[in-house]
Amino acid sequence: MVRLAVLISGHGSNLQALIDACERGELPGVEIAVVVSNRRDAYGLERARRHGLPAVYHPLGPYRERGLSRTDYDADLALILEQHRADWVVLAGWMHVLSDAFLGRFRGRVLNLHPALPGQFPGTGAIARAYEAARRGEVDHTGVMVHFVPDEQVDAGPVIVQEAVPIYPGDSLEELEARIHAVEHRLIVEAVRRVTSAAQSEAHTQ
Ligand code: GRF
Repeated sequence: MVRLAVLISGHGSNLQALIDACERGELPGVEIAVVVSNRRDAYGLERARRHGLPAVYHPLGPYRERGLSRTDYDADLALILEQHRADWVVLAGWMHVLSDAFLGRFRGRVLNLHPALPGQFPGTGAIARAYEAARRGEVDHTGVMVHFVPDEQVDAGPVIVQEAVPIYPGDSLEELEARIHAVEHRLIVEAVRRVTSAAQSEAHTQ
């Protein structure tokens, strides 16, 4: 079995897409080992609990208060995942940039979902920034990508799947968001399927 850790910070609709895909048998050989949030009130934690999945709240605040660093936080995050025997990591709306203290423990096995195409609108507020760019006539589409996270660069790395999403002249921001989220929910499952089936076939040939 491939054991996924899903890291979230908010609503968790992409986590839900992964849970649903696992429960429907659309991700054979894949199970969600643990869900971690850096925010206590992240609704994704509730979604995890409802489906009987381990849900861990891992806040940065106490580390800052004790004068500890992001490296300490990231090392403990890796430890939590190891305790749940996770071997792949999906960042599904996770709002921290991960340092090498974490990435070094899951080298080549960390995926990030971002609501924009490669090289366009990295960082937070990507959908709103694309929407504003469209209103200025600078772009007529944005997109979604899922990529590997090789290092601390934000929303950059080898792309696993990507898809353009049109921005129509009469769109409200909410309409664009809904169109993007629908694509995200499909692509995140597709990306996990691709990388884990490649990993499973490698394991069988070894
Ligand atoms: C998604 O749009 C994701 O691409 C972005 O944050 C959002 C998370 O949504 N990084 P949800 O928590 O999965 O509903």
